[in-house]
Amino acid sequence: MTAIFPIITIPDPVLRKEAAPVERVDEELARLAGDMLATMYDAPGIGLAAPQIGISRRLIVMDPAKDDAPKTPLVMVNPKLLERSEEMRMHEEGCLSIPDFTAELERPARVRVAFLDLKGEKQEKELTDIWATLVQHEIDHLNGVLFIDYLSRLKRDMVVKKFTKAKRAEAL
Ligand code: NI
Repeated sequence: MTAIFPIITIPDPVLRKEAAPVERVDEELARLAGDMLATMYDAPGIGLAAPQIGISRRLIVMDPAKDDAPKTPLVMVNPKLLERSEEMRMHEEGCLSIPDFTAELERPARVRVAFLDLKGEKQEKELTDIWATLVQHEIDHLNGVLFIDYLSRLKRDMVVKKFTKAKRAEAL
């Protein structure tokens, strides 16, 4: 049985916390990763970091495959960026924690990432294109960084304000 978690949106403070390293890769963690993938596909989204479901641990799941393409899920435990290319790529990013908002952002086009897989084994991967953008976006989540942080302050404040107001209205 997989569980679908509610996704936490801004301005929840858990999204701004630095997540703690995963200390043990076990069955429970594998189950959590499976639930995160199910939550991500259900949203639908192409990436999800554990803090987005309120778990402040360094665990991310990704799959940029289009709806009709075969699934290509990738789970990373304690991911770490080792190298970034000087070459950049533009992408229109969105985030499940900031619904209905996207913005064009430039990030390194190629990155090298070290991580543990769900067997607890060390892996290294070079990622390009959408995968490069995606993994940088998700690792940012583990450091309390959101893609709106790369926008102008004016634009970022506008987005945050909109969500703060919406939350207040919901609370009434
Ligand atoms: Ni995100």
